[in-house]
Amino acid sequence: MKCEPYRELATREVDATPYATSLIEGHRDFGYSLETALSDIIDNSITAGAQSVALIADTAADEAWIAIADDGSGMTEAELIDAMRLGSKNPTHKRAAKDLGRFGLGLKSASFSQCRCLTVLTRRNGKTSCARWDLDRIAQRNEWSLELIDNPELVKGHHLLPETGTVVVWEKLDRLSGGYTHDRGKRAEYMNSEFSRAERHLRLVFHRFLEGTKPRVKLLLNGRRLKPIDPMASSHAATQKDPEEILRLRQGDVVIRCHTLPHHKRMSQEEWDEIGGPEGHLKSQGLYVYREDRLIIAGGWLGLARQTELTKLCRIAVDIPNTMDAEWRIDVKKASAQLPPVVRERLKRVVERFVGTSKRTYRSRGQRLVDETRFPIWNRVQKDGQIVFRPNLEHPIFRSYAEQLPEGLREGFERCLRIVGAGLPIETLHAELVGNAEAVTADETSEHDLKVLVCSLATTLMENGVAAEALPDTLQSNPFLRVRWEAAAQILDDFLRTRVS
Ligand SMILES: Nc1ncnc2c1ncn2[C@@H]1O[C@H](COP(=O)(O)OP(=O)(O)OP(=O)(O)O)[C@@H](O)[C@H]1O
Ligand SMILES: [Mg+2]
Repeated sequence: MKCEPYRELATREVDATPYATSLIEGHRDFGYSLETALSDIIDNSITAGAQSVALIADTAADEAWIAIADDGSGMTEAELIDAMRLGSKNPTHKRAAKDLGRFGLGLKSASFSQCRCLTVLTRRNGKTSCARWDLDRIAQRNEWSLELIDNPELVKGHHLLPETGTVVVWEKLDRLSGGYTHDRGKRAEYMNSEFSRAERHLRLVFHRFLEGTKPRVKLLLNGRRLKPIDPMASSHAATQKDPEEILRLRQGDVVIRCHTLPHHKRMSQEEWDEIGGPEGHLKSQGLYVYREDRLIIAGGWLGLARQTELTKLCRIAVDIPNTMDAEWRIDVKKASAQLPPVVRERLKRVVERFVGTSKRTYRSRGQRLVDETRFPIWNRVQKDGQIVFRPNLEHPIFRSYAEQLPEGLREGFERCLRIVGAGLPIETLHAELVGNAEAVTADETSEHDLKVLVCSLATTLMENGVAAEALPDTLQSNPFLRVRWEAAAQILDDFLRTRVS
């Protein structure tokens, strides 16, 4: 075979600097929403050591504007110029522990996703610096020249600047107008509704910073202090917290902790709705991934399990350090990540065990309620791998009534009960129970009906040798009576008293 002589590539170099206009316009579409954009700006404030972050949204002004003011470290002019640069930091460089940043992009890309004019005012050691990127100005000039403003006292938001700290100001909010460019009222209404959605997101994402008697950070929205929403309901006495499991990896530790939320009956409606969020508990079960205490993923099993009604109280907190960003494929918005294979393996086992136990607890609870009750109203019958619910024709209330009926009507009465059982609307019940289980309740009973039921059950039980003292316990094992126990107990008392007299 003939050997070709070695030849070097002949290369030339030409200038291919990106076009400022196209690149910066492209930075508007990383896929941020108002809440993820605000979170990215707040990340910077927290990293800068701020104790207070104030969001001001002037939605009613002629030219609506938004400011995020913090009392963090502030920046020198040189630092500010660097901060305004796209890609101000190298994503592959090591970050200090607790640094919430990674890409050197967030300040710019989050801001441009919402506005066309970003101004940053900052003060350190008594010196105020101010810089601005105005996309319309860049569009005219098509060059990377940053505006420095030497009389910052004239800039909107200047009055919000503390002795040391930073104010990020968004103007020309073209993406937040909701299309109502000429209708100020409608535009303000739209922006306010966006802000109330964002508010919940911020309360959730930064909840660990906002919690406790001495919170690490105070977060204000138009002067109102935001309260944390803890998706693990950790401080609720009825929340079940499993011990922490630590996965030690080369890049750092992953800490996993399973939580079972309290049953909705053990929480106030407000608490329940708050941690369920707009999507509800079914959709909110799953993994909650925290990066340096900041929530980046809220719910969903990332392919490790299915979201089922039986597991909707299961939530697993997964804590990761910022040293694992590359493995977790953290995105610029800090709103998504992927499980690294070694974590996936381990987490899969944890999830299977946790979710499996939870399903078994629910199932056995359901069976026990029917099987162990003496004289249930419904019988649970298991047959050929199927489960049917049948009205219990032997229940004293049905039996004693049937016995009073003439022979010819007795059969008809029992047929009616059987039809009620066979007509149980299984599909509708199923549909209602998925996602909305706590809203499905049993119908009310009249006082008279309850009285007849308690008395006939008590009579039958006593005829079957149950002592009067044991009646309350036995009757309470009946779920129907247990949920109405206050009224039932009173009826039982009266019943026993009249029997004695
Ligand atoms: N509020 C602030 N206070 C002090 N310094 C800030 C503030 N906001 C931004 N900076 C500085 O500007 C830099 C650039 O911020 P930017 O959000 O663009 O990138 P990042 O936070 O480094 O990474 P990421 O793209 O992951 O957010 C920060 O690294 C920080 O040094
Ligand atoms: Mg940042």
